[in-house]
Amino acid sequence: MVIASNRGPLSFRRVEGEITSSRGGGGLVSAMAVAAAQPDALWICAALSDDDREVAAGAPGGRVDEAGFDADGASVRMLDIDAGVLSAAYNSIANSTLWPLNHGLLDGLPAYDEEWRRDWTAYGEYNAAFVSAIAEEAAPGAIVLVQDYHLDLVPAGLREARPDLKISHFTHTPWAKPQDFAGLPEDVARAVISGLLGADSLGFHSPRWAADFGGCAAALGIEVTTPLRAHPLGVDPEPLLARAGEPDVAERRAGLRAAVGDAAVVGRVDRTEPAKNIHRGLLAFAELLRRHPEHVGHVVHLAVAYPSRQDVAEYRDYTALCRDTAARINDELGRDGWKPISLEVRDDYARSLATLAISDVLLVNSMRDGMNLVAKEGVLLSDDAALVLSRETGAADEMTAAMLVDPLDIEGTAEALHDALSMSRKQRAESHAALARVAAALPPREWLQQQIDVLS
Ligand code: F6P
Repeated sequence: MVIASNRGPLSFRRVEGEITSSRGGGGLVSAMAVAAAQPDALWICAALSDDDREVAAGAPGGRVDEAGFDADGASVRMLDIDAGVLSAAYNSIANSTLWPLNHGLLDGLPAYDEEWRRDWTAYGEYNAAFVSAIAEEAAPGAIVLVQDYHLDLVPAGLREARPDLKISHFTHTPWAKPQDFAGLPEDVARAVISGLLGADSLGFHSPRWAADFGGCAAALGIEVTTPLRAHPLGVDPEPLLARAGEPDVAERRAGLRAAVGDAAVVGRVDRTEPAKNIHRGLLAFAELLRRHPEHVGHVVHLAVAYPSRQDVAEYRDYTALCRDTAARINDELGRDGWKPISLEVRDDYARSLATLAISDVLLVNSMRDGMNLVAKEGVLLSDDAALVLSRETGAADEMTAAMLVDPLDIEGTAEALHDALSMSRKQRAESHAALARVAAALPPREWLQQQIDVLS
């Protein structure tokens, strides 16, 4: 079995002259770690930084596990793709074109000019590098699990290079609405749809995203014979709770509790990402305090936003906007001894877990989100937190016991926060039990097995 994804299970960094490795982050990586644990699996990923490239170039055949780095026992080949090609494919096409299209963030889209066309060509080269590596590594008839919007052209390329392989592709984001996708140059739109249709099976977290993909194909007059399937990823509570039980999380938890005293906590954890809608979440929290002053002094908003994609200007600007807004709200509404919002922009997994664990209300108000595993993880980590959840997440399909909100509606989100904070212990316990059941349905092992079963 071959797994192919842009980000892999390891990333490298040179610290005081020494190369050190750390685990790649995000939902995709955690889900695929289960597949990679199988003895016959090879995970092919890209070297994403100069340090990654250095390690990949020095490892035999790019096999970083064979160069002495442990990825929890997984076999990992890291592709040393030219830095310019990678940057154009990842930053310009994947993260600045396909990502905003899939998330309905149309304001941030680039102009489809000459420079962008060059980046599109690079996206083709980047996908072709994966096709060659997979074609080289895969045993006859092997299963290939291609992941996400970085690799939309791989299925068709691989089908041509290796017709014997069983290929699936899974999109971890939503899929673009047909009216948004129609804004792409037609040849590019066709290449993306036909590229994916080279697979034997196409997976999405929600039937809504599968339907949008079908709608985009239909609008281009492309017939879809490949099955489009929904496999909504869930969370395995056991390793999550084991990690949350470690001393560093307990220490952060005690620190947070000491800082907030007996105030109720509205918590959230996200990448610093426009699609996560952190900014409107801050505005909604301020609106809650203005509309319902009984919460002033008795509730705090803990937002952990870990840095992401800081090579893309929109992400840097968004992070700065969130910081400024949090500071402004604190100036306007804070009082001696009570700071309404604490926004932490840093990568501290233990602190993220502690924040979710002590939350009374979890806020997930994404503009659009393939699944949003934090909603599921947060519910499993907390004793009885209520969940305020954007309707535009894949998670909202299943987590119907949450308070569902329109992500653009700041007043509606403020009211949902008020309702969640005002729930009785009994109501909270009931909704929490229902949410926890759903959160743990289809954990990575079963999610993966479903996809393998349909291929065989
Ligand atoms: O949502 C798709 C996804 O691949 C997630 O699995 C992951 O959390 C995120 O994007 C990571 O993005 P990046 O690899 O660009 O940091």
